Amino acid sequence: MSPAAPPGDANGSVPPLAAAGLPHPLPFAAPPPRRVAVLADIHANLQALAAVLADLDALAAGWDEPPRLVALGDMIGYGGDPGAVLDLVRARGMAAILGNHEKGALDAACRRQCFHIQSREALERTCELLSGADRKYLSGLPSSMVLGDLRFVHGMPPDDPLTYFITRDDEELLAAFADLPERVCFVGHSHVLDGACLSGGRLTRLELGDEPLCLEQAGRYILCCGSVGQPRDGDNRAKYVVYDRTGETVAVRRVAYDIARAADRIVSRGLPERYAKRLW
Ligand SMILES: [Fe+2]
Repeated sequence: MSPAAPPGDANGSVPPLAAAGLPHPLPFAAPPPRRVAVLADIHANLQALAAVLADLDALAAGWDEPPRLVALGDMIGYGGDPGAVLDLVRARGMAAILGNHEKGALDAACRRQCFHIQSREALERTCELLSGADRKYLSGLPSSMVLGDLRFVHGMPPDDPLTYFITRDDEELLAAFADLPERVCFVGHSHVLDGACLSGGRLTRLELGDEPLCLEQAGRYILCCGSVGQPRDGDNRAKYVVYDRTGETVAVRRVAYDIARAADRIVSRGLPERYAKRLW
């Protein structure tokens, strides 16, 4: 199966909603795709990405239409195979958006200001490993994307690749929902599996666990999708999520992969060893 996934819509500014907590007042131009697989923070981990795609292909073999695939930013950084990961992302027709590591790879000032010294060291080495074609591809990525009533952004909606969901207090989350025109926003960056729901004016924190999350009809969501290539949720398997419009669910997939090989690639390609150790 080879999923067709044309690039999504790049977005400009979005108007704030009149009030957070109300059912969404805007009509949606089109329904979202039936299923979307969201791959966040691959971080140049080719072994994890290959395992995730194999898992998705097996899962989707029984579906009547292929899923759309979205790479939710930070496809590069930390890992040993940034070029090969970008090749695979493109070969699979994944729609991709900008993460903070792509932004840092393209902008030396951002590298100095937005990264601590260890991640900056990894990013400098990553920059040396990227080809001109890779850089050209990264420079064309949008900072967010919309498919129907789903939004995709690396950090926080509407289009911030740098801010962490996990650092937002309730007031900041309510403000984020007020600036979110879509019903569901998928975010990465934090490398964990949690989120927030706004329903009936009430904000609830949630975790994405073993059971699929059933979306409330009147609920609006910001959901953190974990990480394919650098998990930080206490489970060393690669994670991705699948949105299914049929059942209105979001399910986490946890995939074992060859961690030893990925760790070896980090060290052998001259990246800091601490990012190899952290895979375990
Ligand atoms: Fe990341």
